Amino acid sequence: MNNQSFPHKNAIIFLSAFLMSLSVVKVKAQYKPWVAPKEYAGLKNPSSNDPSTLKDGKTLYTSYCTPCHGDKGKGDGVAAAALNPKPADHSSPNMLNESDGSLFYKISEGRTPMPQYKAALTEKQRWELVNYIRTLCKTQKK
Ligand code: HEC
Repeated sequence: MNNQSFPHKNAIIFLSAFLMSLSVVKVKAQYKPWVAPKEYAGLKNPSSNDPSTLKDGKTLYTSYCTPCHGDKGKGDGVAAAALNPKPADHSSPNMLNESDGSLFYKISEGRTPMPQYKAALTEKQRWELVNYIRTLCKTQKK
């Protein structure tokens, strides 16, 4: 009798291993690069880069963004550990590949777990954040 149930057991082990490997593939496939639509990526930044705009951007960043993105924008805020995907590193040179319009789009629309800010913040404030994010990236490149 044992002889008969044994291959059966193997089949179950094989099947569960197979199902587990499928779910690993699924988790990996879930992350899609976040690309802003073309019409946003090409938007011109109407905000000037003067010190007062940057100061406003920093104040906004500190209240809304540092919990996830961290003080220096490295993506290491207090809430970051619990998040998947991780908050973007705004000090990374990769940020240079993002146009101002693309950053503006991402701040406006969000993507889970990143919240959207088009209702909470004015357009002017969102552009100020774009300008401030740029300073985090330059700091890193030095
Ligand atoms: C609840 C945590 C959380 C908060 C708060 C948050 N973010 Fe994010 N942010 C994320 C996560 C997570 C990602 C990555 C999302 C992804 O890749 O799908 C992200 C990505 C971004 C990106 C995209 C960067 C890139 O290279 O594509 C920008 C820009 C951004 N955040 C700006 C901000 C700004 C500005 C604020 C504050 C107004 C903010 N975020 C607040 C979690 C957060």
